[in-house]
This record gives sequence, C-alpha cells and structure tokens, in this order.
Amino acid sequence: MDELIAIGCDHAGFALKGKLMRYLGERGFRLKDMGTYSEESCDYPDIALELGRAVVSGECARGILICGTGIGMSIAANKIAGIRAACCSDTYSARFTRLHNDANVLCIGARVVGEGLAADLAEIFLTTPFENSGNHPRRVAKLSDIEKL
Ligand code: RB5
Repeated sequence: MDELIAIGCDHAGFALKGKLMRYLGERGFRLKDMGTYSEESCDYPDIALELGRAVVSGECARGILICGTGIGMSIAANKIAGIRAACCSDTYSARFTRLHNDANVLCIGARVVGEGLAADLAEIFLTTPFENSGNHPRRVAKLSDIEKL
C-alpha cells in the first residue's frame, strides 16, 4: 500500500469522493486528491486529464475518477495514451478489469452506485493484481498498439 493512488471527481462526485477518501485512508491507502474541491460545477474532462497524467507519469500507481455516471470520466481518461479506464458498477467487473485488462483507472458513477458498493469497487480494484500470464499480456499490449495508430 506504499503506492500513491490518485482520486478525482467532478461536482457530481464530490460527496462520494470524500466518503471514499475516508474509507480508503482508514485502510491504509495513500491518496492524492486531484480535485474538484467543492460542489461548484466543473468539467469532468479537466479532472480526468490531470489524473490521467499523474498515472501515466508514474507519480500515481492507479486512479479513481468519480462523476455522475462514471461514463464521462471514462471516455475522457481513455483518450490519454497509457490509460486503461474502466467504468464499473459491479464487483465482478471491478475484479476482472484488473485481472484481465490491467485497468489503471476505475471510474464510478456517484448517481449510479451507493457508498457501500463504491467502497467495495474501489477496494477490489486497488487490491486485485493483473493476471500477467496466458493471453492477457498480449491483449493488453494490443491495446497499447491501438494508441499508436
Ligand atoms: C454532470 O452533470 C454529469 O454530466 C457528469 O457528472 C457525468 O455524469 C458525465 O458523464
């Protein structure tokens, strides 16, 4: 748990970000709060870009992005080379996007999932390793190849 985890949100995700930061902090995760810092309206691509840069640079090992649906954040984050963002609202997907996709950003919809499920999604995402064997490394490498087109 030494690695730094970036967490960011727009206004719709602000309340949930605070709850998740408390939950994850109590479990020993080191967090970097990338904003936004109030419920004043802001643009989710701005936050996704900053957080994505922090993950791609290696400053942060992984990231969590929260908006109303989780979808806008995932669309924005996935435009950054090196980001594999997954919008999850069930624990199976949160686990397997780590195991099979080596996802490095989890996106959550604060208007879609409750606080308890969001905490489970985040904890599973942050503690599940990539299954770095079999077909999976080749497929993840092909994701990187697509970025070069
Ligand atoms: C903000 O109203 C909302 O559009 C945003 O949080 C997000 O859901 C976009 O995908």
